[in-house]
Amino acid sequence: MSYLPTAWNAPRLTVHRAGRWGLTIAAVGFVLLIFGLLGRGPPTAHNFTPAGLTDNDSNSSLSSMPADFPAPTPTAACPRIRIRRSITRMNSTERRRFLAAHRRLNDPRSSRPNRFDHLVAHHGQHHDFIHEGAPIFPWHRVFIRDYEAALQVIDPAVTLPYWDWSEHGLYPETSPVFQGGSDWFGGNGAGPHHCVPDGALADLPVFYTEEKTFPAGQAPCLRRQFDKANGTMSTWFEDVAIRRWLRAADNYTEFREAIEPPHWLVHTSLAGDMNTRYAPNDALFFLHHAYIDKLWNDWMAMDPSGKRYSEYNGQLKDGSPAAPTDIIRGYDQIRVVDVIDSTANPRLCYVYA
Ligand SMILES: *[C@@H]1O[C@H](CO)[C@@H](O)[C@H](O)[C@H]1NC(C)=O
Ligand SMILES: *[C@@H]1O[C@H](CO)[C@@H](O)[C@H](O)[C@H]1NC(C)=O
Ligand SMILES: *[C@@H]1O[C@H](CO)[C@@H](O)[C@H](O)[C@H]1NC(C)=O
Ligand SMILES: *[C@@H]1O[C@H](CO)[C@@H](O)[C@H](O)[C@H]1NC(C)=O
Ligand SMILES: *[C@@H]1O[C@H](CO)[C@@H](O)[C@H](O)[C@H]1NC(C)=O
Repeated sequence: MSYLPTAWNAPRLTVHRAGRWGLTIAAVGFVLLIFGLLGRGPPTAHNFTPAGLTDNDSNSSLSSMPADFPAPTPTAACPRIRIRRSITRMNSTERRRFLAAHRRLNDPRSSRPNRFDHLVAHHGQHHDFIHEGAPIFPWHRVFIRDYEAALQVIDPAVTLPYWDWSEHGLYPETSPVFQGGSDWFGGNGAGPHHCVPDGALADLPVFYTEEKTFPAGQAPCLRRQFDKANGTMSTWFEDVAIRRWLRAADNYTEFREAIEPPHWLVHTSLAGDMNTRYAPNDALFFLHHAYIDKLWNDWMAMDPSGKRYSEYNGQLKDGSPAAPTDIIRGYDQIRVVDVIDSTANPRLCYVYA
């Protein structure tokens, strides 16, 4: 039995929309895909490392936030605004601290389901409603914020990092996040169950799973199964493509139609747990969705009129209209319009560096 909507089984690179932007997006995607396929040589760690970044965190020039990032201006709702940063710009100590908080939230010695398992289950429960429709961005915004808040109870200094996978968009498997060691997330799954073998998550058993083949008594592991047999992944997208789509999107619906398909590709080609309704079992889920959440903020900021800070439209998955006053499903008291500006609601209070 599969719980997955069609999109989880087949990467949807096609943008389902007629009109000039749809064609532009499809054409750009096609060109990039071809370019990616032609240009794809043996993946070496430094092939597509952007200037100024290395895959080796021993380089301390990566250690801190960009010096020119302005301190966020407090708002009435948010006397203090936290800054979520790119995981590839955090130093080893900072990454370890985040992962230590994650490991305490999902303590393998705790009785299950633990607090983290409940979060995972919440995503599983609402999975079918929150994809392929307008709610994807506000729903995941509140969801990953709840995770971050749970981490901050454990360690108030932690903020949720984001994973800008477009930095290694053509060769996703070369992303530094897949390194082993206690300060990274580990690599591709191995063995009959595709268990993640190394990194900070390797020994964390998974409570909710769709894997039915584990021998009795054996705790299910966190799984990844990169979608190419040789341990590489399908080509994702580079920053230049993502930015072009952001610029081309004139309204929320266009933004959603441009960004949801590349978002799927990350889930489907990493696969394993990431390709199921229990995707948050993989901590990379939260970093991936933080990046998607950042793109929503970036897109809002691109329009100088400010109107995007209250804009929400399009359809729910069942075809009924979406409205800014919709309650975010699973969060009884929160309307979509209350979370569009991440600095206007005391529940949020963050920006992205
Ligand atoms: C891995 O396999 C894909 C096709 O499935 C191929 O395009 C790619 O070149 C291979 N990479 C390596 C390093 O063998
Ligand atoms: C760190 O990386 C920068 C930029 O690539 C380089 O200029 C610098 O020499 C590196 N430092 C060390 C200690 O490797
Ligand atoms: C990172 O740098 C350290 C110290 O220079 C070195 O020992 C290690 O092998 C490097 N790791 C990678 C993945 O290049
Ligand atoms: C890592 O960054 C923190 C600031 O968040 C800083 O205090 C620490 O010295 C840095 N560590 C290294 C090894 O650069
Ligand atoms: C979004 O923009 C497109 C292209 O201009 C238009 O066809 C569509 O009706 C707009 N949708 C909304 C909800 O404004």
